[in-house]
This record gives sequence, C-alpha cells and structure tokens, in this order.
Amino acid sequence: MNAKTNLAVQAEQKSKSRLPIVRRIVRFDYSDIDTPVFYSDNPVISALWVGLSATFPLGEAEFIKSVKNYEDQVTDPKLKEEVADFAAQEAHHSLQHKKMNKQFDELGFNTASIEDIMKEKLSERIEKWSDKKRLMRTVSAEHVTATFAHYALKQSHVLDDAPESLRNALLWHAIEEIEHKSVAFDVYQTCEGDMGKLKRHYAFFCFLEFPFQMALITRFLLKQHDTKVTWSHRWGMVKHLFGKSGMVSSVFSIYLMFLRRGFHPWQHDDSALIDEWKTKLSPYFQNV
Ligand SMILES: [Fe+2]
Ligand SMILES: [Fe+2]
Repeated sequence: MNAKTNLAVQAEQKSKSRLPIVRRIVRFDYSDIDTPVFYSDNPVISALWVGLSATFPLGEAEFIKSVKNYEDQVTDPKLKEEVADFAAQEAHHSLQHKKMNKQFDELGFNTASIEDIMKEKLSERIEKWSDKKRLMRTVSAEHVTATFAHYALKQSHVLDDAPESLRNALLWHAIEEIEHKSVAFDVYQTCEGDMGKLKRHYAFFCFLEFPFQMALITRFLLKQHDTKVTWSHRWGMVKHLFGKSGMVSSVFSIYLMFLRRGFHPWQHDDSALIDEWKTKLSPYFQNV
C-alpha cells in the first residue's frame, strides 16, 4: 500500500477504538447471593445494585437496536465489525443480568415489575423519538456505563463486600463495557455528527434523569421488603456514592470529560487496566 492509499484508508477509518472487542461466554452461578441484604449489611446499597441489574436486560436490548438502526450507513469495515461485536457483548450481558435478576426475585425482589414499567416507557419513547435521539441516549448511557466500569476495575476493593459471583460478573461486564465504549459514539459521529445536541442530551441524562430514575427504583425495591432502613444505612449509601472511593466522587471528572470540546471516549485511555483485569478474570472466560 503506498503512502497516498494509506492516507485515504485512514481518512475512511471512522472507528477510533483502542482495544479488540472480544466475544466471550461466561457461566456464573448466582446462588451465593442468598440474602436480600447481600452488600455490606446495607439494604439500601443492595437495592441499588438490584435496581441497576434490573434495568440492564431491556436497556441493553435498546442500545443494540439504536446502534443497529445505523448499520447500513456505516461503511468503515472496522466500525462495521465493531457494531456486530458490540451487539454480541451486550446481548450476553443482558442474558447474565436476566439470570442474576431471577436470583434476586428468589430473595423477594420483584425485578419483573421494574422491567414492566421500563417496557412501557420505552415503547412510548420509541414511538416519539427519532433514530438520532435514540442513538444519542445510547451514546450518553454508554459513557455513564464506561465510567462506572472504570470505577469498578480501578476501585475493585469496593466489590469485596459483594458475593463472589456478583463481583466477578460486574468485573467481567466492566471489561467489556470499556472494550466497546466508543462504538455507539463513533457511529453517531460518523452518521449524525451533531455534537452540540449530543452534549446537551448527555448532560440531561447523566446529571438529572439517570440519578433520579435510580433513586426512584431503589426506593421502589426497598418497599418490596420488610427490612428496616436506618439513618446509618442511608449514610452508608451517601458514603458509597460520594465518599472516599465513592462511586460518583472518584470518577466525576470522567463524567465531565464528555462535555469537553472535541471529546472522544478513548481520550480517557484505560486500556492498561483492561489488560490487567483480562488476565485476572481469564479463568471465567471462554472466548467465542
Ligand atoms: Fe453491557
Ligand atoms: Fe455497553
């Protein structure tokens, strides 16, 4: 390939991914989640984790659909392949979270009721929203997910208080969220390119809709139990989110990066972290 052709190929290349997006199969058994208060003796934090897991199966199916809507417009072969690998990873996450949610339901939660509410809201949205708006939501949610994924891998000691299967499943999910973190973004930039609108949408989702929605879901799940919630539990939750090694406080600068001019998800390069965790968790993986 001569220099001129090489330049032409680079100009055509829309994918800016830094890592291969690997399709893996995992088989976790969630039977060690055997009490509704499974995280650090705190029912509020436990309910938050159940709530997050409850939103994944439907949420991830929508992420796949919103990106696949643009499949025909993607001509860069690398990005095309990444769209397929992203969809395969998300589909497997969805399956594992369904399995996990079944275990939560055995313990008295009703994750199906959350899915029903989400399903209704999602179908209303699909009727009203354009493909572009659906993709903007996915791009925004993917940055939030990749930020939490970075948190889980970087501050992995916070997961030591969770049952082993849940810890390993969340770490596996985190690796793959980072591997595919720029796919939806690259598709949006290639096919729509309206970054101002995307950033406004992200700010609304990340700082208003998502936290508000998770607070409501956590409250709803707590009401499904007779577990007494004390001020000490609530304070534990505040520290879990905003304290030292907090889920929000320790990665707040990464949430904000999205709003910078010329932002791309791989400007935050956590590929070394992925190499480290891929090795640690390899006994649980089967590549396909
Ligand atoms: Fe996922
Ligand atoms: Fe994702």
